[in-house]
Amino acid sequence: MTSEARILIAPSVLAADFADLGQQVRDVTDAGADLIHVDVMDGRFVPNISFGEVIVDAIRRSTDLPLNIHLMIHNPDDLLPCFMKAKSDQILVHAEACPHLHRTVTKIKEAGHQVGVAINPGTPISALEEVLPLLDIVLVMTVNPGFGGQSFIPEALDKVKRLYRTIQSQGYAAQIEVDGGIKADWTAQDSVQAGATILVAGSAIFNNHESIPDAMKGMRGCLFS
Ligand code: DX5
Ligand code: ZN
Repeated sequence: MTSEARILIAPSVLAADFADLGQQVRDVTDAGADLIHVDVMDGRFVPNISFGEVIVDAIRRSTDLPLNIHLMIHNPDDLLPCFMKAKSDQILVHAEACPHLHRTVTKIKEAGHQVGVAINPGTPISALEEVLPLLDIVLVMTVNPGFGGQSFIPEALDKVKRLYRTIQSQGYAAQIEVDGGIKADWTAQDSVQAGATILVAGSAIFNNHESIPDAMKGMRGCLFS
């Protein structure tokens, strides 16, 4: 990757204390987050249910940062309007969950949002080939989606590298985002080295052993060490 690329940190509120969600979102905003990553899970596409529109609206009221909304929803088309409320929010859908991926991507773009497509660890980059020129973000899952606190899958690094080369060689605009098991260590460093410019971090930012500002400092600091 180029050394000038700015690395964006997107704390995932899935790991936040939901009894104090508004304050946690404000704290992470004040601590220098670039985006707020919001995991919507439907219990069907992934084996877990997180939250839906009402909570996303509450998160949006707690920060001025763009939301990076990760929809882990089977066939999300009918629900898109629930999540496309602030133009600055980025909407990410899963390639595996969209039977009409091109239509879904186009709908999100036409509504004026940045659009991303996520791929699971078992999904090849080729699944994106036909929509890649349209995308603002490709989200490479570095764990199997559904839960926070899982271990980073190292094989995903090679996928990020290959995707980065494809994007560069074709002159596409998409940024690469990584999600799952990212800590302030080699997982963040190697992901950036491979070409990722957006790092999602849940349990590395919201946890019981360090404050949110310290965790954010650690994450940002590890990228320069
Ligand atoms: C997993 C979610 C992730 C999750 C990451 O399905 O998409 O965004 O919150 O959590 P950590 O950083 O703890 O692996
Ligand atoms: Zn996510």
